[in-house]
Amino acid sequence: MKFFVDTADVAEIKDLAASGLLDGVTTNPSLIMKAGRPMLEVIKEVCSIVPGPVSAETVSTDHKKMLEEGRKLAKIAKNVAVKVPLTPDGLKTCKVLTSEGTMVNVTLCFSAAQALLAAKAGATFVSPFVGRLDDIGQDGMHLIAEIMTIFRQYPDYKTQVLVASVRHSQHVIQAAKLGAHVATVPPNVLRGLFKHVLTDNGLKAFLDDWAKTGQSIL
Ligand code: G3P
Repeated sequence: MKFFVDTADVAEIKDLAASGLLDGVTTNPSLIMKAGRPMLEVIKEVCSIVPGPVSAETVSTDHKKMLEEGRKLAKIAKNVAVKVPLTPDGLKTCKVLTSEGTMVNVTLCFSAAQALLAAKAGATFVSPFVGRLDDIGQDGMHLIAEIMTIFRQYPDYKTQVLVASVRHSQHVIQAAKLGAHVATVPPNVLRGLFKHVLTDNGLKAFLDDWAKTGQSIL
């Protein structure tokens, strides 16, 4: 499973990229607002830090303007994945951009039917939002299961399922069990994946005992 980080905070991205476990980055207009920096500048910087796909979202809702924005974003770097919404105009834009060799991430997916349309439009990634479905009392992971089942029936679909709106490590584990290709994870959740109290306690006990031996390896 690939891990993307869902943030536009360049310091966080640098820090997590240093772990060697980061495969890509996703941003959205809300994350850009939170970062408080010009979008084009942020995307350029992030693309030079992380070689994997970096999602940059369009903000126009009509096809013509969305395509113009997508082409501009795609020019920033080879690893930009242009994000378009799951709307008729978004999917029309997806088709054109993918035919031009640009990676496209179709975002705001909340149903299996929408995911099927994104795959038919040739999306590189489709982003179902699991946390937002959970928030309204639906089962986000059930949607991932449905999409994976459908995509397995059609091996000619190359679209990767990018699990988004991830809130906790169980979302990541369940998505991995279902065979989802990518999870985009907020920095705090990504860091949380490393943590286990028994790892911390065990390490402390080993190091305490090692100190008692008075030895050194180097
Ligand atoms: O980037 C899309 C998605 O991950 C947003 O998540 O937490 O705003 O629902 P959230």
